[in-house]
Order: sequence, then structure tokens, then C-alpha cells
Amino acid sequence: MSDLRVGVVGVGVMGADHAERVARKTSGARLVAVADADHGRAEALAARLSEWPAGGESGSTARHSGGTAYGEGVRVVEDPLELIAADDVDAVILASPGSVHAEQLFACLDHGKPVLCEKPLTMDAASALQVVEAEHKLGRQLIQVGFMRRFDPEYAALKQLLDSGDLGRTLVLHNVHRNKSAGPAFRSEMIVRDSMVHEVDVARWLFDEEITRITVHKPKPTSVVGDGVFDPQLAVFELANGAIADVEVFVNFQVGYEVRCEAVAERGSATIGLGSGVFTRAGERWGGTMPADFRTRFEQAYDVEVQRWVDATRRGEIDGPGAWDGYAAAAVCEAGLASLSSGTPVEVALADRGNVLGT
Ligand SMILES: NC(=O)c1ccc[n+]([C@@H]2O[C@H](COP(=O)([O-])OP(=O)(O)OC[C@H]3O[C@@H](n4cnc5c(N)ncnc54)[C@H](O)[C@@H]3O)[C@@H](O)[C@H]2O)c1
Repeated sequence: MSDLRVGVVGVGVMGADHAERVARKTSGARLVAVADADHGRAEALAARLSEWPAGGESGSTARHSGGTAYGEGVRVVEDPLELIAADDVDAVILASPGSVHAEQLFACLDHGKPVLCEKPLTMDAASALQVVEAEHKLGRQLIQVGFMRRFDPEYAALKQLLDSGDLGRTLVLHNVHRNKSAGPAFRSEMIVRDSMVHEVDVARWLFDEEITRITVHKPKPTSVVGDGVFDPQLAVFELANGAIADVEVFVNFQVGYEVRCEAVAERGSATIGLGSGVFTRAGERWGGTMPADFRTRFEQAYDVEVQRWVDATRRGEIDGPGAWDGYAAAAVCEAGLASLSSGTPVEVALADRGNVLGT
């Protein structure tokens, strides 16, 4: 079977990471094109990734274990929609800002291109539902959503343990999601839509239930954020089976990146994300180090996610969260935004899955 020819749209922090992953680490795939609203950024990345190993052997056509052949060029396409339509692009990774996902997803569906779309699927539940309906009309799942925690070995082991029933029924989830810093442009709404959305998906996935109600509390904000930004936030999700999940999201924690999840079940609890790597005693201190950001903490999860997406795409399938999961998360976040502003619990307005998908 020939390699999957992948194009990446949006090569900022996440897209550049994925582009490099496809080019250098993923087997059965080749990075053929990149596009970004900032053409200079796309040009610089394409030049760097066309030369491999870095700094040498350009022009050689030898191939490493997976990904783009040495010296094979990565094309820069000015218009992202042109990249999506291109005949030499079999599948697309969307890592552009969420605000342009809807238009680019519809283009992928129009051209029958499989797409790994970074979260959020779209910015609101109505447009996300339109995406779900448009894909359903095609009769084939083309969209996978980048909820990469499902591919993290620790989260996967937790899911397996809870599903085994060894601990009895799962009753409560406690989550912590902290970033070192997020910058002044990261407003309160983004904390819900861009950060908390991960725990929304984790809760839906671990319980295998929809979230029916959300309350977002606003504790005293950290002094490092500007007026009107509520950071940290504390949210409570109520699930259809009566279980409850909570999450503290704190995107300007100042220390490092920290994601933890504790599941409380009838006969025990299980915690992941303790970061129990190398424990050192040196310089009058003891302990380990914290990851700087999500790329370090979830590197393995992204690697597995992209490799499994490539493998599944070559079989004509998806292998992970689909458009419905992206829509359901968008619906919860929309209710979360309403709760953030009202300070009260808000019911999640979710379409009937059976009516939409006929399943
Ligand atoms: N799964 C995760 O853990 C994770 C982590 C970070 C970001 N993300 C998601 O990845 C996406 C990108 O986030 P980021 O942190 O890389 O942002 P970023 O700002 O670093 O990069 C976005 C890039 O998209 C480009 N861009 C803007 N408009 C565009 C358009 N219309 N078409 C093509 N490119 C366009 C920008 O120039 C920029 O280079 C977002 O959806 C974000 O939520 C996911």
C-alpha cells in the first residue's frame, strides 16, 4: 500500500509539531504540503522539514523508517482550501485556530478528504452539529478529533482498569489541568473552550456517558491575569448516569504543565498524572521535574494518535474520537460559557444522537 500523503493546515505550535511528527516519526505517511495564513512560517517549516537529517544529506532520496523521504520536498500552498483540494494530498491535519475549523472541515468533506482536526471541532454547538450532519450524509466517517488524551498510555490504562469493573462502578472523577502560562490573549472563554474541553472529553470517554449539566465556578483570579479574566476556573460536570466529574483549570499556574486525573470507584480509586519520573536528590533539593508544556507531557499520546490515524485512514476508517465527540464537547463548552457568565448550573442542549446519526 502506498504512503498516505498528508497536508498540514496551520503550522503554529501544534501544527508544526504534527508536521514534524508526520515527516520524521510516522510510518506509512509522507508530509507533502503545508499551509498557513503566515506564509513565512509555512516556508520556514517546509524548508526545515525538507532537509533531513537536519543540516545534511539534502538531495539524497534515502528513506528513514517512516515519513518523508530524505530530500523530498514539502510544498507550501498559499491558500489552505487549495491544499485541502489538492490531488497530491490524501489526508489533512487541521491545526489552524478553532475559528476557521468549520470552513476547512466542510472543504475536507466536499473533497472526500480524511481529516484529523485539532480540538475544538468548531467554535459553537450549532456549527459542530452541521459538520456532524454533513459527514453523516456522506455515509462515511472522515473526521477524527484531536482529543489526544485518549491515546496517552496512562489515560488508556485508567480507561482499561475502569472498564474491567475490578473497582466496581466509577462514581466520581477529579481532574487538574494546569499550564505554566497562557499569555494575555487567552481569555476566560478560551479556558473553557480550548483547555477545559479536554476534561469534557475525558469525562465523556471514561464514563461512556454524555454530560447533561455543567457549573463553572470562578474562584479569586490570580493576580498575573488582566481585569475580567477568570483564571483559575473550577467546573463540575454532571453525567447522564448520575456520576460527577470536577476539574480545576488554571492556565497561568507559573510553575509548569500538570494534568492529573483521579477516578473514585466503589472499591478503590486510581490516579494518573503524578509525574513519577526520575526522582533526584541534588543541590539541597529532592524531587523530579515538571513538563514545560503539553508537547512534552503528551508527546507519546500525539505520536500514537497520529500513527493510529494514519493506519486507520489507509484502511478507510477512523480510530479515535469522531465528529459526534467533537460536537458533544462543543455543546458542553457552550453550556459552560453560559454558566461562566451566569454563575449558575446550565443544562447541556444536545441533539438526539439517534435522530442525527440513526444509531
Ligand atoms: N490537542 C492539544 O493538546 C492541543 C494543544 C494546543 C493547541 N491545540 C489546538 O491546535 C490548534 C492550533 O493551536 P496552536 O496552539 O498551534 O495555535 P498557534 O496560534 O500557535 O497556531 C495557529 C496557526 O494557524 C495559522 N492560521 C491562522 N489562520 C489560518 C487559516 N485560516 N488557515 C490556516 N492557518 C491559519 C496561524 O498563522 C498560526 O501559525 C487549535 O485548534 C488549538 O486548540 C491542541
